[in-house]
Amino acid sequence: MIVKIDKLDSQGRGIVRGEKTIFVDNALEGEIVNIEITKNRSKYCLGKVINYIEKSNQRVVPICPYYDKCGGCQLMHLSYSNQLKYKENKVKEIVNKQIGEIKVNSIIPSEELFYRNKVTFHVQNNKVGFFQKQSQNIIEIEKCYLLKKEINDNLKNIFQNKFQNDYPLVIRSGLDKIIYCQPDIDINKDYIIDEINGFKFLISPTSFFQVNTNQAKKLYQLVKNYLSLNDNDKVLDLYCGTGTIGITLSKNCQYVYGVEINKQAIDDANKNKQLNNVSNISFSCLDAKNIDTLNLDVNKVVVDPPRAGLDKNTINYLLNGNFDTIVYVSCDMMTLIRDIKLLQNKYIIKEITPVDMFPQTYHIECVCLLEKN
Ligand SMILES: C[S@@+](CC[C@H](N)C(=O)[O-])C[C@H]1O[C@@H](n2cnc3c(N)ncnc32)[C@H](O)[C@@H]1O
Repeated sequence: MIVKIDKLDSQGRGIVRGEKTIFVDNALEGEIVNIEITKNRSKYCLGKVINYIEKSNQRVVPICPYYDKCGGCQLMHLSYSNQLKYKENKVKEIVNKQIGEIKVNSIIPSEELFYRNKVTFHVQNNKVGFFQKQSQNIIEIEKCYLLKKEINDNLKNIFQNKFQNDYPLVIRSGLDKIIYCQPDIDINKDYIIDEINGFKFLISPTSFFQVNTNQAKKLYQLVKNYLSLNDNDKVLDLYCGTGTIGITLSKNCQYVYGVEINKQAIDDANKNKQLNNVSNISFSCLDAKNIDTLNLDVNKVVVDPPRAGLDKNTINYLLNGNFDTIVYVSCDMMTLIRDIKLLQNKYIIKEITPVDMFPQTYHIECVCLLEKN
């Protein structure tokens, strides 16, 4: 069946409009392709390209030999400059449709395409690799084209281990070394140290750390700019991880409170406080939904939740509080939109800036500035 691709959906798949929408992998806007229907569902179909009749000039040859099979990346066939346009337009489109006229700034590009400082491999009967697209079969690889060189250079050695358990294998690289472990069976006591904007951060295997360190520098700088801090400001860093954002802000305000659910991350945060000689910050290990129990005296808030976004109690805390500024860092557009629509009852959405933390994939990070109405 010959079709023309209308545009890309939020997962980077080509969309063909018709009686039933067809989603086609590895097909770009404007391309004319011969497809085969691989799944026919009641409301939509999935299609696979058999051959390309007219290719887009935005198409590039994917650098990764596993790209067709591996499920890790979705946009490697689109040139990087067009990946950026795609992401920026996606944010504009969703914001416009769901909220209305809001200023969306240009996306901040990533300088590196081999950017990931962390990778999680699946292990099955001593086979180590990634899941194939839409399956749980392992595809074994020698190199991943998203990973930092230091990790790729060590993969062969690490894979020589006989992994006794089918738990995920996590590899992380920092400033000086690589660590690897299967955290579910034996939490490695080792840690990496990385650096962001002049601050050093110690990170344990199970603590969150931004996977694209160079982009994290820009992300945190943007958060800082949005907060426009002065010496009297008291800031809440909610979902603080190992204290990275809070510590970065600490020199420019009176006090920072960091709150995070993962005990290991809070232990790291306290070590990071010492490592950076910061005295005006304290950390609490707490579920964000109980944030009101701390009775904090703060006038500015940064939230950086996981994909699920903010829970009802946290939204109420922000709505009941009297904060001058809220900066919302989000890795999921849909929950960001859901949450800022609720926050609109008290705060004005000033602007949103997308930051490309995850090149070659459809994932989009956004930073949103809200100010008291
Ligand atoms: C996207 S990360 C952000 C971490 C940190 N801001 C950074 O940039 O490194 C989200 C963090 O929220 C934490 N988290 C998840 N659910 C939580 C909850 N219900 N309450 C508090 N923290 C939570 C996770 O452990 C993780 O460290």
